[in-house]
Amino acid sequence: MVLYGREKIWHCKGEKTFMHHHIQRVAHRGGSHLAPENTLAAFRNALTLPIDAIELDVHMTRDGHTVVFHDYTVEKRTNGSGNMLDLDFAYVRSLNAVAHFAGGWPEPQQIPTLREVLELAKGHVQVYIEIKASKRNGIMGRYPNIAETVVEEVRAAGMLDQVLVISFDWTLLPLVKSLEPALQTGALVSDDVWNARAERALPMLMEQLTMLGCKWINVHRDLLTGEMLETAHAHGFRLGIWTVNTERAIRRFAAAGVDSLTSDRPDLFSALQV
Ligand code: G3P
Ligand code: CA
Repeated sequence: MVLYGREKIWHCKGEKTFMHHHIQRVAHRGGSHLAPENTLAAFRNALTLPIDAIELDVHMTRDGHTVVFHDYTVEKRTNGSGNMLDLDFAYVRSLNAVAHFAGGWPEPQQIPTLREVLELAKGHVQVYIEIKASKRNGIMGRYPNIAETVVEEVRAAGMLDQVLVISFDWTLLPLVKSLEPALQTGALVSDDVWNARAERALPMLMEQLTMLGCKWINVHRDLLTGEMLETAHAHGFRLGIWTVNTERAIRRFAAAGVDSLTSDRPDLFSALQV
């Protein structure tokens, strides 16, 4: 991480790091180290913390409902089994999404619908909607009409100005934009989708993302360099990073000048003075 150790904190007073510009403070999956990820319990908890946005993951059931869940399969987080591609909404809703939460949780939680989370967030915080790919037998795919369905849900909720659609599936982003030009989009960049060591890696990335029409680049923290941040800004992008889970890292990345910080510990954003 090129920025580490070299940047200066712009303005410190006591325990606070003052933001040079406003940084979006994002609760990753609602703050997955504080409450069971991607549940209404997590998002409600996030709303009590110093955040600007919640981040959530969207998959689609076999019968076409958008549900808020991270994994392709339900075993790891719930008391059920199966791949989301094969599961009906009624079954998905019968599952307990806190079945494996470390330390337990006082009451069961359903896997929420996208609509439920949007309703909860409306008028309070921004929502980063990550549209997930499907995956079966190692083969990645796109849920049928997932872009159209997400756009329709956001429209129905009246939240076009409150949502950022992000995805590792970059080709989905211009589709979202063509369906609803008012929606902002962001490309997720990890080393699965971008080779930082390739020739002209950074200029190529900028060219590609410019063509996608997205406003945001959301980068895995390990890929961030000072050059990347500068270049992204020079191209008119806003740049966010995930996942930043210690107070020290939050302060450092804030000082480096990123535009958003996504954290599983959104309580630690109290280290930043807005
Ligand atoms: O916000 C981006 C980040 O959530 C992408 O990774 O696996 O946590 O969905 P993942
Ligand atoms: Ca995500």
